[in-house]
Amino acid sequence: MQDEINGEIEELRSNCIALEEQVKLLVQTELKLRRTQTELEKAKKEIEDYNRTLEHKVEERTMNLKRVNSELVSFTYMASHDLQEPLRKIDTFGHRLKENYFDVLDDHGRDYLDRIQNASTRMQTLIKELLAYSRVTTKAAPFVEVNLLQIVNEVLSDLEIQIEKTSGLVEVGSLPNIEADSTQMRQLFQNLIGNALKFHKENESPIIKIYSSISDEASNKCELVIADNGIGIENKNIPRLFGLFQCLHERDKYEGNGIGLAICNKIVEQHNGNITVESKPGVGTKFIIMLPVKQIIQ
Ligand SMILES: Nc1ncnc2c1ncn2[C@@H]1O[C@H](COP(=O)(O)OP(=O)(O)O)[C@@H](O)[C@H]1O
Ligand SMILES: [Mg+2]
Repeated sequence: MQDEINGEIEELRSNCIALEEQVKLLVQTELKLRRTQTELEKAKKEIEDYNRTLEHKVEERTMNLKRVNSELVSFTYMASHDLQEPLRKIDTFGHRLKENYFDVLDDHGRDYLDRIQNASTRMQTLIKELLAYSRVTTKAAPFVEVNLLQIVNEVLSDLEIQIEKTSGLVEVGSLPNIEADSTQMRQLFQNLIGNALKFHKENESPIIKIYSSISDEASNKCELVIADNGIGIENKNIPRLFGLFQCLHERDKYEGNGIGLAICNKIVEQHNGNITVESKPGVGTKFIIMLPVKQIIQ
């Protein structure tokens, strides 16, 4: 009996020792956990501080970029505006010269005069396009509900002569109403459809398709497509396509200043959307524009 009691006491004692060991281990683990927690909190604070500094830096850089950009835009505006005045004079006196002295001039003189007048017309177009480019950012956009189908039809009627000249075919699918600046939407389609008509293959009339592939109020997204069967754009030129003054074809074949797509890009940006391009040289080009259906006021 005594032996049994002793045995049990012995077992209890060794259980107690084991328990004490466990408790010691637990205390150590808790200590370690606390230390890790403190380290984690420290790291978290460091990350938060770092994020704050980063946000601050990004904010500062964005402000700088916005300032430089707006300075550039107002410079463009001023320069273009001031250039118009002397140009008007060249134009006026060119006309007077032609009207009053045409008979006195020999063939060389008449040719020089023609060239002066053509150069002045080209410069007028360039200035007009530059002004349009700078206006897109300086003008605050009052977004209203815009019927894109109506806009496209108006643009097509403005482009009637080009469509006829090229024997072009324009197919217009369904297009949604969206919140936008209607003047800028007109400019956007004018440039894109104008390009699609201009950059057609030499022996092939342009076929242009304009449609909306997605228009979803729930996700607030609409996708607009302008596709053509024209000369296409080489892959290597696509990264600079939307930059200013980018004419990416042989200069003597097609007229242009390379401002249109830069304007399109700015318009889409102003509308919180984006524009991309898919193209195959010799096959055709597809411009894809994603825009919000409704503009969310921030
Ligand atoms: N639909 C198109 N098909 C082929 N090339 C195009 C098309 N649209 C634009 N491009 C290329 O992109 C360049 C830039 O277009 P844009 O800014 O409108 O300038 P521009 O029409 O004055 O030449 C064009 O010069 C042309 O090389
Ligand atoms: Mg163009």
